[in-house]
Amino acid sequence: MIDLLVRGGCVVTPAGVVKAGCDVAVDGGRIVALGRADQPARRTVDASSMLVLPGLVDAHVHLGCSSWDAVTPNDWYHGTAAAAVGGVTTVVDFATQTRGRLMMEAVDAWRSRADPDAVIDYGLHLSITDASSATLDEISRVVDYGIPTFKMFTIYRSHGIMLEDDQILEVCRRVHECGGLPGVHAENAPIAERNYARFAAKGLWQPHYHALAKPDYVEAEAINRVLFLARVASAPLYIYHLSTALGLELVRRARAAGQAVLAETCTHYLTLSADCLDRPDGVNYICSPPLRSVADQRALWQALSDGAVALVSTDEAGYNAADKARALGGPLEAIPNGLPGVELRLPVLYTQGVEGGRLSLERFVELNCTNPARVCGLYPRKGVIAPGSDADLIVIDPGRRVRLGADTQHMPVDWCAYDGLEVAGYPQYTVARGQVIVDDYVFCGARGRGEFVPGRLDWSGLSSLGLTDPRKADGPAA
Ligand code: URP
Ligand code: ZN
Ligand code: ZN
Repeated sequence: MIDLLVRGGCVVTPAGVVKAGCDVAVDGGRIVALGRADQPARRTVDASSMLVLPGLVDAHVHLGCSSWDAVTPNDWYHGTAAAAVGGVTTVVDFATQTRGRLMMEAVDAWRSRADPDAVIDYGLHLSITDASSATLDEISRVVDYGIPTFKMFTIYRSHGIMLEDDQILEVCRRVHECGGLPGVHAENAPIAERNYARFAAKGLWQPHYHALAKPDYVEAEAINRVLFLARVASAPLYIYHLSTALGLELVRRARAAGQAVLAETCTHYLTLSADCLDRPDGVNYICSPPLRSVADQRALWQALSDGAVALVSTDEAGYNAADKARALGGPLEAIPNGLPGVELRLPVLYTQGVEGGRLSLERFVELNCTNPARVCGLYPRKGVIAPGSDADLIVIDPGRRVRLGADTQHMPVDWCAYDGLEVAGYPQYTVARGQVIVDDYVFCGARGRGEFVPGRLDWSGLSSLGLTDPRKADGPAA
């Protein structure tokens, strides 16, 4: 007797969409068979006329994150529970080093918050905030621990997390030597800081000026610079939350020249524009990089289908409206940055991408499940429906529609970035390591059942994303 049989669905596998009538057999938390299964099961989920996809992997979240005195309501329990309702079975957060302290202290701090509360499995990136010899010497330990991806900031000077160019070069070199993947939050700090100061001097505090302080070239210049530094270091590069057509053009050019670079974008850069900042609740929409133009959105959708952008994540960092509004009228940099979205990527992108005719179901799965798992070193355990992989599955009735709003979302944030949008795609069932944790749209997972999953990069698999290990490629010389 096996634990679970998901019977008769239209299943998205690495070989393509199995049109209908495919069973997924689950035992001991793993997928044990695909196709026609006739084993008796303790539980059977009828998936006929339903889509069966791998659980989504969100490669970029900040759960329970804080900005000055505000904390996001999506903490490790509420955020992962809402994620599960939205079909996410793995999240990857950022353990952020305190400058001058060991990175493993940050890892311990993140794990001590996540382990008692996470409902779904999780991985970690390391946000690296200094390039001292102690930090550089610690990188191999962090990679060996199972955290192979490192984020560097070219901005957020006042938050004490920005790295200078020489430090970025050193970190790229050392992360690469240790078998990890350096990545960047790319925005030009001096230009943005000067713009903020210029607007502040004129009393221009409105959210509108947040986007004007960081126009597209602020992102593109930093991408250009860090691409160059990574090239000098012969290191691969992960561009987090790419938001502009201008930055994308640089990524395309580097890839065409053989540089090992991959880009992530986020749900909001595909679907929301800077016009949101002019609404009465515009302060809610402050995030970095800022929301952009419709032309930028169009370029990013194109990049999703032609492969120039490899994955979509949410950059979940949703503060309550009052916490955002409290900072209005003062420096724009002091407004908590980020949008709530960990629950909403599947319905919003299924509706606008798959139903909207922009993405095939297979490409949707690559962008939201398989590629995020690869980039974070979690594949093939995560991100795929295949025998031997963790039984992380979602079952979707594509005909069921929901109107999004603060009252329909499960995230405890008091506003909804997609208020009023009608969507399909919420899963009826979410199965995580073989356990049904969303049953007929109702969350039933246990607090703390989620586990840390160590990440190990598979460079041969990453080559399918254009990320050949530069140590082995005939790339640009160091
Ligand atoms: O506005 C954002 N994106 N906040 C989260 C922090 C980051 O830079 O990813
Ligand atoms: Zn960032
Ligand atoms: Zn982020």
